[in-house]
Amino acid sequence: MHSAARYYDLLAWLLTLGRERAFRERLLQLVHLEPGESVLDVGCGTGTLAIAAKRRVGAEGTVHGIDASPEMIARAKRKAKKAGIEVVFHTGLVEALPFPDAHFDAVVSTLMLHHLPRPVRQQCAREMRRVIKPGGRVLAVDFATPAREGQGLLARFHRHGHLALRDIVELLSEADLRVVETGSVGVSDLQFAVATAPSLRDGDRQDRQSHAFRSLDPLPAPRWILPLLGIALVAGHRLVLGVASPRPALSAVVVLGAAGLLAITHLWLAGVVHTLVRRRSRSGEG
Ligand SMILES: C[S@@+](CC[C@H](N)C(=O)[O-])C[C@H]1O[C@@H](n2cnc3c(N)ncnc32)[C@H](O)[C@@H]1O
Repeated sequence: MHSAARYYDLLAWLLTLGRERAFRERLLQLVHLEPGESVLDVGCGTGTLAIAAKRRVGAEGTVHGIDASPEMIARAKRKAKKAGIEVVFHTGLVEALPFPDAHFDAVVSTLMLHHLPRPVRQQCAREMRRVIKPGGRVLAVDFATPAREGQGLLARFHRHGHLALRDIVELLSEADLRVVETGSVGVSDLQFAVATAPSLRDGDRQDRQSHAFRSLDPLPAPRWILPLLGIALVAGHRLVLGVASPRPALSAVVVLGAAGLLAITHLWLAGVVHTLVRRRSRSGEG
């Protein structure tokens, strides 16, 4: 992960097709940040989410980010400084948070939990619970467990860690957090769980079994994707037929048809993956 720091933002850009900002905003909406609140991002990586969180909580709010990788933290600090945003970044372990009890209104953890072995993950959850204020919110986001592990062409090329949604729910519940909502994020195969720390008024009345499920719509496709596809197709077509094609009308039909087909295939695939994630997440609930 250390060597990944330099390329991490590029990777995030590629995985979100340039929509990382919209993706991060979507995550922050899930945890309902208010101006003036205090937020902790555990396993903050290069700090993109923490910086976006600070924009939300404003000058009166505070945001801390913590990550085990000094390279990630160095990059996060550079990014915050460049953006003129004040976020406090720490190098440290999520299983031993250097903060007092009941300190934050919200704790967020994105794409991080799957990195941790189970006992460390459990310790991390206990630490998140410890530092959250009564009534505070926790957001956990991670890759869903694939329907059929290690099979298919995509799985061969795109391996990443993952965590079943039911394991996230169990993890948070065991740490004395009440899961209030789960769902799919609508980006890649990401899923989320939102939990709250019992407030002083809640007493023992927590219903730990039930929570809402929400499947978010896929992020809109980036505007530049079709023109880019068109250019790529024209270039490819020209290469195949030669620069001075004798049948420009035929060329145009081929290019437009292929672009349309690609766009439909892309939308269809996104829909299929989205549905699969939703189904798996729902079966994970039961
Ligand atoms: C895939 S990155 C996710 C970064 C960021 N949260 C995001 O959404 O882009 C996982 C991060 O977790 C960090 N990490 C892994 N294990 C950790 C631990 N035990 N304590 C602190 N950070 C850890 C890694 O250094 C890495 O930056």
